Amino acid sequence: MKICVLWVVILYILVVVNGVHITKQPYRTAFHFQPLKNWMNDPNGPLYYKGVYHLFYQYNPYSAIWGNMTWGHSISHDLVNWVHLEHALNPIDPYDLGGCFSGSITILPGGKPVILYTGADTQIFQSQNLAFPKDPLDPYLKEWVKSPHNPVIAATDGDIDPSNFRDPTTAWKTTDGTWHVLIGGKIDGRGMAFRYESKDFINWTRSEKPLHSSVRTGMWECPDFYPVSVNSKDGSENYLETVNTKFVLKASFLDHDHYILGYYKAQTNEFEVETSDFLEGNIDWRYDYGGKFYASKTFFDSGKNRRILWAWIIEADGRANDVKKGWSGLQSIPRVVWLSSSGKQLVQWPIQEIESLRKNKVEIQHKELKSGSMFEVVGITAAQADVDVSFELPNLEDAEQIEPSWTDPQLLCTQKNASGEGRFGPFGLLVLASNNLTEQTAIFFRVFKNQSRHIVLMCNDLSRSSLSKDVDKTSFGAFVDIYPLQKNISLRTLIDHSIIESFGGEGLACITARVYPVLAVDKEAKLFVFNTGSLSVKISKLNAWSMKAATIVPFMKRRKRPIKN
Ligand code: FRU
Repeated sequence: MKICVLWVVILYILVVVNGVHITKQPYRTAFHFQPLKNWMNDPNGPLYYKGVYHLFYQYNPYSAIWGNMTWGHSISHDLVNWVHLEHALNPIDPYDLGGCFSGSITILPGGKPVILYTGADTQIFQSQNLAFPKDPLDPYLKEWVKSPHNPVIAATDGDIDPSNFRDPTTAWKTTDGTWHVLIGGKIDGRGMAFRYESKDFINWTRSEKPLHSSVRTGMWECPDFYPVSVNSKDGSENYLETVNTKFVLKASFLDHDHYILGYYKAQTNEFEVETSDFLEGNIDWRYDYGGKFYASKTFFDSGKNRRILWAWIIEADGRANDVKKGWSGLQSIPRVVWLSSSGKQLVQWPIQEIESLRKNKVEIQHKELKSGSMFEVVGITAAQADVDVSFELPNLEDAEQIEPSWTDPQLLCTQKNASGEGRFGPFGLLVLASNNLTEQTAIFFRVFKNQSRHIVLMCNDLSRSSLSKDVDKTSFGAFVDIYPLQKNISLRTLIDHSIIESFGGEGLACITARVYPVLAVDKEAKLFVFNTGSLSVKISKLNAWSMKAATIVPFMKRRKRPIKN
């Protein structure tokens, strides 16, 4: 009897207090970060503080549609299992009544964190504002107090458009004791990162020139600027010039997160682009070549000496479905990011902690995949899985010639989809596939050659991902800068009901997709390996795991140990 009453109380708390949906939610994820309900967009101010990871995020407490931007706040000991806390910032002051928009956290000397965020007023005119923890000794940083000095950076200069002035970065300090921060913006159609300087973090002045700008991009949202170590996976916080450091400048525009590499001269505060600038040259470097990965932010994890990247993963099923589901938006699996050994690009890989959710390992080795063959990987929960496979290609001299005009990987993948004909490829995985394959999402490779080398194309074909007509089924593609003569072609894919995050060439090319199958749901979802190319390829190894669900729960005020270690 007592147990029965307890269950009623628990259900009441879940459904009425927290708005948890008891109805079947086939697209809700199991190990990606999501609030219990409603709208979420950008990650804000990620932080490691006194042994605890913090994630803040753009959140609408009232609806599954953007609005009432509030800073949601959750904490974790492992970046996998999370506890939701009270909101950190609410839009209740004149300078942020239109929303507490995106921003970052900086640790001040002495170890105290400070939030610098964009406030939008009722006209959505933007300014930058500070908030401090009420109790910096509290590792959970539960309460935040806005500064009486707000706004600390207003859009007062005549040339600044107050509607396009937002998303401050984490600040950095140069040897002369000056703080520097970047703010995204646009002047006369030119996208840019304004740079502001301060000695005390309260009084800020705009530098003469922006750190960088471009006429090709439009408005820069959520800029990010950070050092990466040369020849090492270690993260870095050192903004001073050394031979072992390059800098990443990222900006969110035209629906993607683009980055360029260069050198930062701390003496003169100049950023010198190393090779090609945004949207110039042959390669448009993006963190992720899918269409739903946006407004990302990195932080330096001093606990494990690594740089971690978070991004907002957008829905692709339309507003009406978001309202029906009662929620919209995910965060990517946090990725460690570092400079590739060639020094030309970034590499990303899911944080190792996510592997703690793996169970029921299935292993396949040295299996030939003849032309036209396919097999099912059985023994795992295919709608909630982690798959790591690598392919070996014999006789690469038989690869197809690539045409010089085939420079756009997304276009190539759309024209030469998973059912297209080729020699080496299409080969790869069919995920979230229905029994009869009516629904299937293919992640596959094709290998071409030109005069000097082999070219590896990675595709994500969504054209048959769902029987639903409402959802976006755009396909994606990326070139993977590997030499298949020297290295097997690898693919790691994390599948979580409505999200597929794929890492090709050990993290050299990443593609994230949102898919909403109607048939291939939960236990009905299947995983296959396939090769429709006319030449055989060999699976050198395939490891696949079911994934347990992460624990992502509200903070219970009276609980002694709110988070699992
Ligand atoms: C990016 C963005 C930011 C802004 C925030 C508002 O997704 O538009 O520029 O601060 O979202 O929610």
